[in-house]
Amino acid sequence: MCGIVGYIGFRESQPILLEGLKKLEYRGYDSAGIAVFTEQGLEVTKTVGRLVNLENRLTGEPLRGTVGIGHTRWATHGKPSDLNSHPHTDNSLKFSVVHNGIIENYLELKEELMMAGHQFLSETDTEVISHLISVEYEGDIVKAVQRAVKKMRGAFALGVLTEHEPDRLVAVRYASPLIIGVGEGEKYIASDIPAILEHTRDIYILNDGEMAVLTREGVELLTIEGNFITKEIFHVDWDLMTAEKAGFDHFMLKEIHEQPKAYRDTMRGRISEDGRSVVLPELKITAEQLKGINRVHIVACGTALHAGLVGKNVIENLVRIPVETDVASEYRYRSPIITPDTLVIVVSQSGETADTLAALREAQRCGARVLAITNVVGSSVAREADDVIITLAGPEIAVASTKAYSSQLIAFFLFGLYWAQTIGSKNESEVAHVLAAMQALPEQVEKVLAQAEVIKGVAESISHHSSLFFIGRGIDYAVAMEGSLKLKEISYIHSEAYAAGELKHGTLALIEEGTPVIALLTQEDVYEKMLSNIKETKARGADVLGIINEGHEVEVAKSVDRQFAIPRTLPLLTPALSVVPLQLLSYYASLALGHDVDKPRNLAKSVTVE
Ligand code: M6R
Repeated sequence: MCGIVGYIGFRESQPILLEGLKKLEYRGYDSAGIAVFTEQGLEVTKTVGRLVNLENRLTGEPLRGTVGIGHTRWATHGKPSDLNSHPHTDNSLKFSVVHNGIIENYLELKEELMMAGHQFLSETDTEVISHLISVEYEGDIVKAVQRAVKKMRGAFALGVLTEHEPDRLVAVRYASPLIIGVGEGEKYIASDIPAILEHTRDIYILNDGEMAVLTREGVELLTIEGNFITKEIFHVDWDLMTAEKAGFDHFMLKEIHEQPKAYRDTMRGRISEDGRSVVLPELKITAEQLKGINRVHIVACGTALHAGLVGKNVIENLVRIPVETDVASEYRYRSPIITPDTLVIVVSQSGETADTLAALREAQRCGARVLAITNVVGSSVAREADDVIITLAGPEIAVASTKAYSSQLIAFFLFGLYWAQTIGSKNESEVAHVLAAMQALPEQVEKVLAQAEVIKGVAESISHHSSLFFIGRGIDYAVAMEGSLKLKEISYIHSEAYAAGELKHGTLALIEEGTPVIALLTQEDVYEKMLSNIKETKARGADVLGIINEGHEVEVAKSVDRQFAIPRTLPLLTPALSVVPLQLLSYYASLALGHDVDKPRNLAKSVTVE
């Protein structure tokens, strides 16, 4: 995830910027850079790779000056490279910008600027901002930034410097976090508290649509419309470790709570302004080629495969083309039937999983086109696939995948709708209907998260058991598989996910007095059948937690011991909500058992061996 740090004061800024960026390293990044006002003017040094690369460059040629901005980049628009790293400047080299977030309309803006003679060096959306500000500058950097941001759509936290006003540092926040640190004769900006914690514990937290103008003497707070505002200083009493996790006890919990943002970011710029169609300009596959596809293979490992199981339901429902899902480690050894009319979709958070990469290569060798859904720009999977949809979950640190999985679901929803609108299997109003429901998901996840305490209680009780079952039908079964994997992975409690109708063909024998059963019943078309399956387990003494739709509470209460209601959405979209209580369940069970939640035994975040 990108990180921002900025300084204006009386000390050399370079070491403060580098130290601040180091404190943000845990968030993941692929390149870094700083801009400092030196005696020569506004100077920038930036490089792809780890911070040590940047430090090495600066050792020979340090940037000396007491005002500067720094950035660690997690690529979203354009691969990791020196040129794509931040800070970005305009053509006059008088304006420099660091940016977290995504500018949705950057292509339009870039085109306009290019028509006016601007030259661009990078593939990023951020470079557009420095050019825009330079165009809007008429002697006051604050007004120029205000005018520029009015032209931008999307999410942004910005740090802006101009050589014309070397005693001011401007910061803006819109849908991407930014804080201002206050010290005696020195001020800071940062995307996260750890970056500046060693210098100050007094901060202003900017809200969306607010900006700050920092000088050595003080901080002026205002809205992007130009109205001055006042704020209370927030005194941080967290230690560094707590600050890294934004106050959460574990990265996994933090990442579970980041899902509303991950959903918004993954949808951002991919839904037309009128909300009636999906826009995926990153896809090279043509409408003709999409029309020619007659089968799909979804190939992945672990949690990514479980996202693929939901993806199968989504594509078959929206596009009506047969989809097979495959475990990547099996795919290339079972001689799958791959024809040039097969679209192979590989799913991978890291984009580096050896089995998934091998499956991708096998598919291409057999002449199939490969679409990758991955979270890491510039990863092997992203580089080698023919088409790529990047999920914008941001780096995932906990081994147990949560926000990456749910962002993969969003990617499948978007791609399924895009395909459906392209071949006409869904009409415009049907697409718009699903898109409206998708846009409500982030807020609905927030509602689910607000009830985390309910799940905590259930988790504590199941943590005493050595075996349990997850059951569901249709798309709920796909989610049950993810719930079961998550629980095994971090709590080490054995569990099985079963298609609810299949239980009585053997596994029911394992249900005895007190066996916990987590039953998902969010699919209205099989609701009655699920109730019957639950009764079958209850008759053998199961202790059932029902994950249900809001509105069914009274009726379901007769059949289950405990229940958790998720907000209503379209049946196809329910996994994006129903997975959240299951993630929380595994988190709290692991916690109750005293395990290392973020680093479970025997597992690695990225599996780069076969
Ligand atoms: O990076 P990938 O998505 O390709 O990783 C695939 C699996 O190794 C991964 O999803 C694993 O199952 C997770 N630790 C599950 O939480």
